[in-house]
Amino acid sequence: VKRITVPEIAARKRGEPIVCLTAYDAPTAGLLDPHCDVLLVGDSLGMVVHGLPNTVGVTLDMMILHGQAVMRGSRRAMVVVDLPFGSYEASKEAAYAASVRVMQETGAQAVKLETGVEMAETVAFLVKRGIPVMGHIGLRPQAVLAEGGFKAKGRTDAERERVMAEAVAISEAGAFCIVIEGVAESLAREITDIIDTPTIGIGASAACDGQVLVITDVLGVFDWAPKFVRKYADLRTEIDRAAASFASDVRARRFPAEVETYFSKKPASS
Ligand code: KIV
Ligand code: NA
Repeated sequence: VKRITVPEIAARKRGEPIVCLTAYDAPTAGLLDPHCDVLLVGDSLGMVVHGLPNTVGVTLDMMILHGQAVMRGSRRAMVVVDLPFGSYEASKEAAYAASVRVMQETGAQAVKLETGVEMAETVAFLVKRGIPVMGHIGLRPQAVLAEGGFKAKGRTDAERERVMAEAVAISEAGAFCIVIEGVAESLAREITDIIDTPTIGIGASAACDGQVLVITDVLGVFDWAPKFVRKYADLRTEIDRAAASFASDVRARRFPAEVETYFSKKPASS
């Protein structure tokens, strides 16, 4: 089976919506693979898998380890791996080296960078050297400390202009696709109309060319989720029920039963 390619995703502008979910491990990637165009190994894994307070503590080694797992578990979807905080901002050469590590060590088809306007030069540098780049504009979680929290963008004219400038700069730099996070519908629509690069929204309205959500939010693993999430399952309740049942069965010696037990055969006598 051939994976969905970068040109195939780039060609989805104003076409069939791009379906994307995050994935961090092989079995989940395998379950999502038949349904998704893109599996994103997001640095959100720092928060939703490793329990960090934000994504600033995520390392390139962590991204590569999870990227390898997602590649092993999937076969059809395009796999994109986030470059984590600290691995790409210092120079375009640093970004190139980090991208090469990701692509060579995981086999993923593309990298994603959080892209303010200042990253346009880096994106162009990578793209010219054969690295497919997904941009990420609007709310950029790796800037959480500088911004003092996760805040939706585009509430003021200055902010709207800034996000629009990011969209145009990163599109012109050659990104094949751009994630727009946490912006009002009117801004997402304006951006999606103006640029020829497909947009994938998260908390950015139905105006985008595709949608992405964090898989643990979709599955209802946490009790809190942002307003823009639709919970398609209640895994939290399921896991709690399973653990409670196991615990009470063990304590009451109801587990394991005979069918769950190995018995040694009687040695054949002669
Ligand atoms: O890290 C992540 O999961 C992401 C998506 C939510 C876009 O960057
Ligand atoms: Na991310």
